[in-house]
Amino acid sequence: MSEYIEKLKRRFSELFGGLENTREYFSPGRVNLIGEHTDYNGGHVFPCALTLGTYAIARRRDDDKIMLYSENVSKAGVITLSKDNIALNGSYGWAAYPIGVVWAFEKQGYGIDSGFEMALFGDIPNGSGLSSSASIEVLTGAVLRDLYSFDGVTGVDLAKIGQYSENNFNGVKCGIMDQFAVAMGKKDHAIFLDTATLKYEYAPVILEDASIVIVNSNVKHSLVDSAYNERRSQCAEALSDLQSVLDIRTLGDIDEETFEKNKGAIKDETVRKRAKHAVYENQRTIRAVKALSENDIALFGKLMDESHISLRDDYEVSCEEIDFLVDTAHSVKGVIGSRITGGGFGGCTVNIVKNEALDEFKEKINRAYLEKYSKEPGIYQVSIGDGAGRI
Ligand code: GLA
Repeated sequence: MSEYIEKLKRRFSELFGGLENTREYFSPGRVNLIGEHTDYNGGHVFPCALTLGTYAIARRRDDDKIMLYSENVSKAGVITLSKDNIALNGSYGWAAYPIGVVWAFEKQGYGIDSGFEMALFGDIPNGSGLSSSASIEVLTGAVLRDLYSFDGVTGVDLAKIGQYSENNFNGVKCGIMDQFAVAMGKKDHAIFLDTATLKYEYAPVILEDASIVIVNSNVKHSLVDSAYNERRSQCAEALSDLQSVLDIRTLGDIDEETFEKNKGAIKDETVRKRAKHAVYENQRTIRAVKALSENDIALFGKLMDESHISLRDDYEVSCEEIDFLVDTAHSVKGVIGSRITGGGFGGCTVNIVKNEALDEFKEKINRAYLEKYSKEPGIYQVSIGDGAGRI
């Protein structure tokens, strides 16, 4: 970590001239343990912040310029614009994430009175579904709050502003989960969040003799954003059909039994399957959090497995490579649970693996995936870290 900061300091100094008055920040990535595609259905999610994430060095400028640099996209060089001239459809490349947050802050009444310069570096694998974009959004929010003393802005506000920016500046109609986990994460805890009310609780993740291992398929299928938005509208359609027979506000308002009794009201068969996932996954998440609090890791793992099957068959957001990783995981004795995590159509699986089986797990996954797809998966044994802020 300190090694990243030292490197970034040298780069900042070269690009922007010295390090006087600079400040340092970190913002995590996230992994969702269970509760997938429930956050735009008024359901529960159970993500945690990672110790992988994005580092930044920043300082205010005396003029109106915003100057942004990412060591991950060094070819793009320094992106420079005036704080008073942010275009909704500008071609900013990676910098659309921080610029969108400056734009969103202004929309929320937090206009900045001078420019700033910021250099970033992230160690979250790109396009992996571990929320590198939410990490940059919340990071930028934390930087702005600190540099301009927007003291009234809370962590939950940072999450909401990040989501607002992603929805309205970047055009992805995501829910609140990613930004919330990144802003509000807590070391060694997952966040049990009710997305209907934003009430949340921290749950200690004590796995005793097991670890969380993320496997990156290194595939990202095209049309992810459009397929995501399509799932959202199918859920909205299901809700509207159900509202003709039930007095509910979201799919998160009903349990499995109520769904089964009333599902006939949903006209389209595919839409019915989507709604089934949203309802069952929400209830599964509530049960999984209870299982974890009772130290029943085996049940927690079983619910993760059921979550995967539902995402694969009813929600249809998995893909061949991810299913292969989940199946291979299950061939290792000592794997307690395995599922796709994040938006889907590629990205990562999250696995709970007994420590004694870790070496076999890593070796087997690596070999089988390489043999079948001629590329290595990324395997990360991860720790749960804190949310975004100054370091
Ligand atoms: C993406 C979105 C989140 C959430 C997940 C699926 O990560 O950004 O809001 O909907 O997909 O659970």
